[in-house]
Amino acid sequence: MRLLVTGGAGYIGSVVAARLLAEGHEVVVVDDLSTGHADAVPAGAQFHQLPITELDPVLPGWGVDAVMHLAASSLVGESSSNPAKYWRNNVYGTVTLLDSLRTAGVERIVFSSTAATYGQPEEQPIKEDAPTRPNSPYGSTKLAVDLALADYARSYGMAAVSLRFFNVAGALHGADGRSYGERHASETHLIPNALRAAAGSGSALPLFGTDYPTKDGTCVRDYIHVVDLADAHLRAVAAAVPGTHHVVNLGSGSGHTVREVLDAVKYVTGNEVPVVESERRAGDVAVLIASNAKAAELLSWRPTRDLDSMVEDAWRFERATR
Ligand code: UFG
Repeated sequence: MRLLVTGGAGYIGSVVAARLLAEGHEVVVVDDLSTGHADAVPAGAQFHQLPITELDPVLPGWGVDAVMHLAASSLVGESSSNPAKYWRNNVYGTVTLLDSLRTAGVERIVFSSTAATYGQPEEQPIKEDAPTRPNSPYGSTKLAVDLALADYARSYGMAAVSLRFFNVAGALHGADGRSYGERHASETHLIPNALRAAAGSGSALPLFGTDYPTKDGTCVRDYIHVVDLADAHLRAVAAAVPGTHHVVNLGSGSGHTVREVLDAVKYVTGNEVPVVESERRAGDVAVLIASNAKAAELLSWRPTRDLDSMVEDAWRFERATR
């Protein structure tokens, strides 16, 4: 297949693009480089530096069969201080993209949605029919796109899958000899910041909240390896059915506390992570664990890489890029 990957210069998008190429597909990457890096785009991909709102005139000439839509603004904290940016980039941007896809006759789309669409559900693990009560504009805007995709599938016959990612971590060390990993300008995520703290190249890690109702008082999250996530994208594009919108959670089905993640970082690096116990971070919920039963049923997908392997791959990427 020939696939368009929006956001293909970003962390997850570059891994998806590299995995598609490794599987023999042709890849066209679109990224405006607002947060991505041109040198993260895999060498075999055709790259266009463009916003997703400007594809109308060019898309018909690219001859793509399907799109993996990962371009988005994705900082939960920033979304609360600047919701307009999130509604514009994530919702207006995506609806404009969907209309360009219709004009070009591209009917298949896999969209990167998020666990943040659920807020804090009462039941764990979280199934796809759990109530959606996002507690950030980031979550609201991703949910708005999920709803738009359902309407576009129903009314225009699109074949759409929303993949709701839980906590993505790790890196791809590719057969092309290159590594693809997390390189955010302002890094907020636990694993890269814990690795930097352990290596002495970052400040001590703030441990946000030690009084949650969990086994050690710290938040529980469901971590998923970025390569497993990319493999789910390949399965999702094959499983997409015209006229249908599927929502599928992607997680391991089990959770780790922040302290357990810090233990894994110590195990992999050999260094203790220096920590400053801090107040809870606004917007964090105590526990988020995915049910991955639907991913298994619909996509025959199962995660194959555990937390230690995510931390090891992220650590290898960290050392290669610093
Ligand atoms: N944490 C710390 N210190 C840090 C960074 C994080 O203690 O320096 C804690 C957080 O409080 C949280 C856990 O580590 O309990 C994981 O935090 P991350 O920032 O790595 O990830 P989040 O769970 O906040 O966010 C992830 C994705 C979002 C998505 C969200 C779903 O990155 O895109 O899950 O709720 F929206």
